[in-house]
Amino acid sequence: MTTIDDADGTQEDLYLDKVEALSRATNRLRFDPYLDIDWDAPENALDTADPRWQLHPVTNPLAATDWYAEQPLQKRVDMGRWITANEFKVAIQFEMILIRGAVHYAGKLRNSDPVFRYVMHELTDECNHIQMFQEFINRNGQDVPGMRRLSRILGPIVGFISGYLKIMLFIGALCGEQPGHFKQTLLQREAARIPPLLNKITYIHLAEEARHITFADDYLTERVQHSGRLKRACYAILYPLFFRWLMGEFTPPRSFARQFGIPRRTFKAAYWRSERSRQMLAESAADARRVADSLGIRTIWSRWIWRVLGIEGRLPHYRGEPNRNFENPTVARLAEVRTTVWARIVAAVAMAGIALVATPVGPRIIAVAAAGTAVWAIYHALKERRGGVMANQPFEWPRFFVWLAVCVIMIPVGGLIGLALVVLMILALAEFMPTL
Ligand SMILES: [Fe+2]
Ligand SMILES: [Fe+2]
Repeated sequence: MTTIDDADGTQEDLYLDKVEALSRATNRLRFDPYLDIDWDAPENALDTADPRWQLHPVTNPLAATDWYAEQPLQKRVDMGRWITANEFKVAIQFEMILIRGAVHYAGKLRNSDPVFRYVMHELTDECNHIQMFQEFINRNGQDVPGMRRLSRILGPIVGFISGYLKIMLFIGALCGEQPGHFKQTLLQREAARIPPLLNKITYIHLAEEARHITFADDYLTERVQHSGRLKRACYAILYPLFFRWLMGEFTPPRSFARQFGIPRRTFKAAYWRSERSRQMLAESAADARRVADSLGIRTIWSRWIWRVLGIEGRLPHYRGEPNRNFENPTVARLAEVRTTVWARIVAAVAMAGIALVATPVGPRIIAVAAAGTAVWAIYHALKERRGGVMANQPFEWPRFFVWLAVCVIMIPVGGLIGLALVVLMILALAEFMPTL
């Protein structure tokens, strides 16, 4: 064992300290899907016609095809809901495999091993995630299968066997968690465009999975270094194969194409042959490559396996490091937002010009308009601080009353022209705030 010859103890001690810190972190911040999500709140109602369920090219290559763009809106929405629900079903099935293996593994740990407590915390998290995903699937109403049939049959067997192979258990945990984490991180970056319920679910899952990935990272770093050459060679081969298998399960099955009448060629090209799908596959493995590299199981000879499987690519400097090239659509969106902001500022300046030229009380109108805009901005800033701004918000009475109060106060100051100018300025300057 590699030891650190200082007063803080061995590397093993440092590792166990980290495990205990993760257990404490779990106690400090954990979620319950039935307490932390108000499933019956109006904003969480699963509206089957909500256009925000449509697939987005950043997270799904089918959305970038001409075929998808030509479909009626309702069909695009239905496909988006189906894929979301199916990915959650895959996550459930994967987490059940993990639970089987982890329970088996934990049962063999000695008394007072801190890993036991952490693993039990993680299993509690996973049970909550399973309930959260299943609740979504039930409310969505589409009967989704999740993984392919063979994986559904073999999954429980893989889970059972992995209970005997602890390193493979946690390599498998990373391989299943990383593709989901990658996809949900992209969704979070598009938070303004997705329904609040999906936003909430992915937020909870990302927060808790970050701990699981940290534990698996630390566990493998601590254990793999003690493995012999033959075992390390096995891990070097099995890691990319496992990853590729689980990544493939997160793409929709043929039954999805049949149900929605997607031409075979379009379906294959979108998910497996297009430039975008290849980039997405390789990019989703970025964190897996970083971990394999740091463990020394992505060697010169084993990299060809990653290459053949289409999951070779850049090496991130840290976990979750975004790839700006891959996320071009988001960059384009930022440019679009910047243009909008400038257009709004120009509109506000134009309104101020009209106030000065067309009314005798121009400076007063501008001053009060600025005050009204500030009230509006402060209202949103406070709301955001309390975590109430989720973007794309539905109608809210408090928001409406703030609007009304600001407008009514303006009437005695600048008359109806002043009121109209103030309304336009608020619209131009402050109304965009919650979605930026
Ligand atoms: Fe999970
Ligand atoms: Fe997890």
